Amino acid sequence: MRTQVCIIGGGPSGMLLGQLLQRNGIDNVVLERKTKDYVLSRIRAGVLEQGFVKLLETAGCAERLHAESFSHTGTYISYGEEIFRIDFVSQTGTPVVVYGQTEVTRDLYAARESSGATTEYNVEDVVIEGADGDTPSVRYSSNGQQRRIDCDFVAGCDGFHGVSRRAIPDNVRREYEKVYPFGWLGILSETPPVHEELIYANSDRGFALCSMRNENLSRYYIQCSLSDSPDDWSDQAFWDELRRRLPSDYADALQIGPSIEKSIAPLRSFVTEPMQWGRLFLCGDAAHIVPPTGAKGLNTAASDVHYLFHGLIEYYETGDRSGLDRYSETALRRIWKAERFSWWFSSLLHRYPDQTEFDRKMQIAELEFLRSNTAAQQAMAENYVGLPY
Ligand code: FAD
Ligand code: DHB
Repeated sequence: MRTQVCIIGGGPSGMLLGQLLQRNGIDNVVLERKTKDYVLSRIRAGVLEQGFVKLLETAGCAERLHAESFSHTGTYISYGEEIFRIDFVSQTGTPVVVYGQTEVTRDLYAARESSGATTEYNVEDVVIEGADGDTPSVRYSSNGQQRRIDCDFVAGCDGFHGVSRRAIPDNVRREYEKVYPFGWLGILSETPPVHEELIYANSDRGFALCSMRNENLSRYYIQCSLSDSPDDWSDQAFWDELRRRLPSDYADALQIGPSIEKSIAPLRSFVTEPMQWGRLFLCGDAAHIVPPTGAKGLNTAASDVHYLFHGLIEYYETGDRSGLDRYSETALRRIWKAERFSWWFSSLLHRYPDQTEFDRKMQIAELEFLRSNTAAQQAMAENYVGLPY
C-alpha cells in the first residue's frame, strides 16, 4: 500500500490529524492496535480548550459538540470548608467546553468512516523503517498477514505505550520524567453533577475533583494510593471518601448512585525531545504526558496536531519544509508551558506522602493568595483555558 501520511494510532491525535488531512486532500492511513469499540469505550478527558474546538470545526467534526457540549465560564477551587471561583471569561474572555473525549473520538470515527479513508484495526507488530531517509515505510501484521505501507511521512500518534517514540534512536532522544506518588480513582455515574461547574478540592485527606459530562452524568475523581485497585473501592466507600474531601454544603448536596465505570490512573509528567526524527513526527501522549489536574492531556495533543497539520499542508501546497523542520521546536515550546501548569496545579492540590506541616501551610497560603489576587487568577485562567497556538 502507498499513502502520503501513515498515522500510527487511532486515538484522538491520530484521528484528528487524519480527518484534517483528509479534508485537505492529503491521503492518509490510520493503523490502530485495538478495535474501534475498544477505543470508544475509554473514559478519559472531559474539558476542551477553544483551540481544540476550532480544530474540530476545521476538521468538520464539531456539529454534535456545538449541540451537546457545555460552556463553562469558570471553575471552583476548595480547601477544607473554603471555596472560591476563578472566572475564566472575566480574566481571559474565553470559556472552556465540557465534552468528553469519548464523544470527540466518536465524532472523529464517524467522519472518517463517511470520508471513506482507510483505517486498519487490530494491527500488530508495527515497525517504522527508513524514517531518517526519503522513503519511510511502516510494516505491520494484520490477521496473520504481513503488510507494508510506503509513505512520505509517519505520524506517531500511538500514545505513551506505543512504538513510535522508541523508533527515535536512544542517542538522539532525551526523556524528562516525574512520577507522582499517588493516582486518581475515577468513577462515572448517572447522577446529576453536584455543582454546575467543576470543583477542584484540596483537603487534608487528599485531592478530589467533581466534573461532569452532562446534566445526568457525573465524573468524580479522588486521589488514591498507587497500590489501590478499583476493586478495593466499593461505590459506597468512594462516595464516603469524596464527601469527606468536599466543603460540607457540597458534600450534603452530592447525589450518589451506582458507578458505571471505575478506574485508576497513575500521575506522571513526561516529555521526550525531540518530537521528530527525519520523516517521523510524534503527537500527543506518544511524546508527552501531564498529570490530569488542569485537563491538559488531550488539549496538548490537539496543539501538536495543529502544528503538524500546518507543516504538512505547507509542504504539500508549496514544497516548503520549514514548518515541518521546526515542528518539534514549535510544539515543545507550548508543551513545556502546559507541563509547568499541570505540575503546579497538581502540587497545589494534592497531599504528598512526604509533605511536612510547613509544605501544607505553603499550599494553603498559595490558595489564599490565588483567592484574593486577580493577577494570580489571571495567570491561572490563561493557562486553564489554553495558551495560544
Ligand atoms: P491515546 O489516546 O493513548 O491514543 C493512542 C492510540 O494508539 C490508542 O488507540 C492505542 O490503542 C493506539 N496504539 C498504541 N500502540 C500502538 C501500536 N503499536 N500500533 C498501533 N496503534 C497503537 N486527560 C485529561 O485531560 N483528563 C483526564 O481525565 C484524563 N484521564 C486519562 C486517563 C487515562 C487512564 C489515560 C491513559 C489518559 C488520560 N488523560 C486525561 C489523557 C488523555 O486521555 C490523553 O492525553 C489523550 O488520550 C491523548 O491522545 P492520543 O491520541 O495522543 O493518545
Ligand atoms: C476532567 C478531568 C480532568 O483531569 C480535569 O482536570 C477536569 C475534568 C474530566 O474527566 O471531566
